[in-house]
Amino acid sequence: MKYKSQKVAYWFFALSMLLLVLQLVYGFVMGFARIGFDNLHEFVPFNTARAVHTNLLVVWLLSGFMGAAYYIIPEEAQRELVNVKLAYVQLISLAVVGVVAVVGFHFNYWEGRKFLEIPRPLDFLVVINVLLFLGLILVTLFKGKRRTTTALVLSMGLLFAALLYLPGMLPFDSQVMDSFFRWWVVHLWVEGVWELIMGGILSFLLIKLTGVDREVIEKWLYVIVGLTFLSGVLGTGHHYYYIGVNKIWLIVGGIFSALEPLAFLAMALFAVNMYRKGEKKHPNKLALYWTLGAAIVSFVGAGLLGFAHTLPQTNLYTHGTLVTAMHAHLAFWGAYGMIVLAIISYSLPNMTGRKLYLTPRGRAAFWLSNIGMIGMTVAFGVAGVAQVYLERKFGMDFMLVQKEISIHFVVLIICASVFTTGIIMYIIEFYKHGRPTDEAMEVSIQ
Ligand code: HEM
Ligand code: HEM
Ligand SMILES: [Fe+2]
Repeated sequence: MKYKSQKVAYWFFALSMLLLVLQLVYGFVMGFARIGFDNLHEFVPFNTARAVHTNLLVVWLLSGFMGAAYYIIPEEAQRELVNVKLAYVQLISLAVVGVVAVVGFHFNYWEGRKFLEIPRPLDFLVVINVLLFLGLILVTLFKGKRRTTTALVLSMGLLFAALLYLPGMLPFDSQVMDSFFRWWVVHLWVEGVWELIMGGILSFLLIKLTGVDREVIEKWLYVIVGLTFLSGVLGTGHHYYYIGVNKIWLIVGGIFSALEPLAFLAMALFAVNMYRKGEKKHPNKLALYWTLGAAIVSFVGAGLLGFAHTLPQTNLYTHGTLVTAMHAHLAFWGAYGMIVLAIISYSLPNMTGRKLYLTPRGRAAFWLSNIGMIGMTVAFGVAGVAQVYLERKFGMDFMLVQKEISIHFVVLIICASVFTTGIIMYIIEFYKHGRPTDEAMEVSIQ
C-alpha cells in the first residue's frame, strides 16, 4: 500500500541533492587551496569553506533522513501523514535555516566548534524545525494502525538525535567542558543514534527488496540496536583521551570504542545474509546495490578505518590529522550518504511512476561515486600517515609539513572528480524521474 502524503519525501530528497552539490563545491575549494590555488581566499578562506562543507553535509543528510521518515512512517503505520501542509512548512523552514546559516558563515557569523558552527540564536530555529518534524512523525506513528519495530527504531533514532542536539547548546567558559559536551552531539550522533536511523532505513529497504520475513529482519535490528548502545555510549571516551578530563577515559574509551565496529559488522552481515536468503526478485536492483553498498562500505569506513585510530596509543599520534579526514569521508559516505541514496533510489520510481531501475547511468553513478570515494580515502590516508610521521614523529613545523604533503591533494582532486561525476549522474537520474504524481501513488507496488 502507498499513501499520497508520502510524496512530501520527494521534496526533502530534492533539497538534499541540491545541498550535496553545494557541499562538493566547497570540497573542491579546499582541495584547490591545498595545492596553491587559493584564489577565492578573500571571499571563502579555508576555514569558512571547511565549516560550510561539513555543515552542508549534516543538513543534506538530515534532509535525506527526514524524507526517508516521511516516506517510511506512513507505510509502516498504515495511514496518511497527520498533516501534509505542516510537512511542507517544515521543509521550507529547514531550507531557510540551512541557507541563512551557510550564508552567515561567509560573513563570519559562526562559532568555532567543529560541526556545530551554527550560532546559538539560529540553533533555536533548528530546534523549532525539528520539533515540528518529530511531532508530525510521532503523531502519525501513534495514530497509525501498526507500530512496527522498523518504524520505532527509526523514530527513536530521530527523537534521540534531536535531544542530543541540546547538550551542544550549553554555554561554557571552559574549553574542556565545551569539548566534553560537544562530543555528546558529534560522537553520539554518528556512533549512536544515527546508526539507529540507518538501521531502521536498512531494515525497511531489506524487507521491501529481499522479501525475507519481517520477523527475521527485525530480530537482526534488535541485535544491531543492542550492539550500538553497548559500544557507542562509553565509546565516546575515544574523544576524551587528551582533552583534560579524568584519565580513566583512556581505558574506558579504548575498550568500548574498540567494540564499536561490531555494530557495523552486524549491519553488513545482516544485509548480505538477507540478500542471500531473499527469494523475491525485486526489479529495483539499483536500490539493492545502494542498500548492500551502504552496509558494506560503512563497515570499512566506520568500522575498520575507525578502529585504525581509536586506541589511545595510536590516537596520541593521529588525532586531528588527515588520518581523521580519511576515516570521516568513507564513514560518512558509506553509512549515511549511501543509505540516503538507497532510500531515494527505492522510493523515487514508486512516487513518480517511472521505473528507471538499473539504467546504464544509474549503474555508472554507483560505481564512479564509490570508486572515486575510495580513491579519496586512500589519498587522505597517505597524506595523513605522512603528516603523522613528519609532524608528530620528527617534529617538523606544521606548515612545512602541509607543503610537503600537498601532492596528495592533487590525487585527491582527481579522485574527487571521479566521485563528483558519479554524483552528477545520480542527480541526472533523479531529475529524469520527474515529479511525484497522485496517479503513481495509486499504483500498488511489490
Ligand atoms: C568533491 C568531493 C570532496 C572533496 C574534494 C572534499 C575535500 C575535503 C577537504 C579538503 C576537507 C578538509 C580536510 C582538512 O582538514 O584539511 C574535507 C573535510 C571533510 N569532508 Fe570532504 N570532500 C569531498 C566530499 C565529501 C563528502 C561526499 C563527504 C561526506 C559524505 C565529506 C565529508 C567531509 C567531512 C566529514 C570532513 C571533516 C573531516 C574532519 O573533521 O577531519 N566530504 N573534505
Ligand atoms: C558512521 C559512523 C562514523 C562516522 C560518520 C564517523 C565520523 C567521524 C568524524 C567526522 C570524525 C571527526 C570528528 C571531529 O574531529 O570533530 C571522527 C573522529 C573519530 N572517529 Fe569516527 N565516525 C564513525 C564511526 C567511528 C567508529 C565506529 C570508530 C571506532 C571504531 C571511530 C573512531 C573515531 C576516532 C578515534 C575519532 C577521533 C579522531 C581524532 O582524534 O582526530 N569512528 N569520526
Ligand atoms: Fe567517536
